[in-house]
Amino acid sequence: MRIDIITVVPELLKSPFEASIMQRSIAKGLVEVHFHNLRDYTTNAYKQVDDYQYGGGAGMVMMIEPIDKCISGLKAERDYDEVIYMTPDGETLNQGIANTISLQKNIIILCGHYKGVDQRVRDQFITREISIGDYVLSGGELGALILCDAVIRLIPGVLGNETSALTDSFQDDMLAPPVYTRPAEYKGWKVPEILTSGNTPKIEAWREEQAYKHTLNRRPDLLKD
Ligand code: ADE
Repeated sequence: MRIDIITVVPELLKSPFEASIMQRSIAKGLVEVHFHNLRDYTTNAYKQVDDYQYGGGAGMVMMIEPIDKCISGLKAERDYDEVIYMTPDGETLNQGIANTISLQKNIIILCGHYKGVDQRVRDQFITREISIGDYVLSGGELGALILCDAVIRLIPGVLGNETSALTDSFQDDMLAPPVYTRPAEYKGWKVPEILTSGNTPKIEAWREEQAYKHTLNRRPDLLKD
């Protein structure tokens, strides 16, 4: 998968791709990430990418021209499956959306700033608008990183053990069951006996029951279907 991220603060984005699973996905050749500094696409002498809003009001708006130049330049090179705009009024990110996007080949992610982008950008270029939750961030960059992390770990081959993404919370509309590791007893606190029994069918049944109880307790809304 190729991900092109358009931003006015590329410094905010780089380090998460230099460690852990996102770094490994790139090292394995499964993911390519390219950052585009919007200021490189402005013809303005001051490298200005935003301006006052028509009609008055507080807050600057990101101008269409540099965004058009950047997106159109990318689209001239290859086909894109999705041009995503990170914005608090987009659809809220969930595991289903991450699954869908993980199947795509080339995506563009545009990070908004200030009051957001000129509406014509949204009308002309954007195919999907995503929010990471009902709160307002200073810009779309942190949201873009969360989206990338959620998507990249689902790409086949990125995680060592293929099944570990499939057993994540939310993958089947359930929260994950509790997990334990060695030692089997610590300060008198014991691991549930069933998990050390070696009885795989019983362990699976226990995990399903625990996942169900945990979901019922914390997120009953997930069980409504
Ligand atoms: N930009 C600002 N707030 C955001 C949010 N909640 N989700 C995605 N992008 C944003």
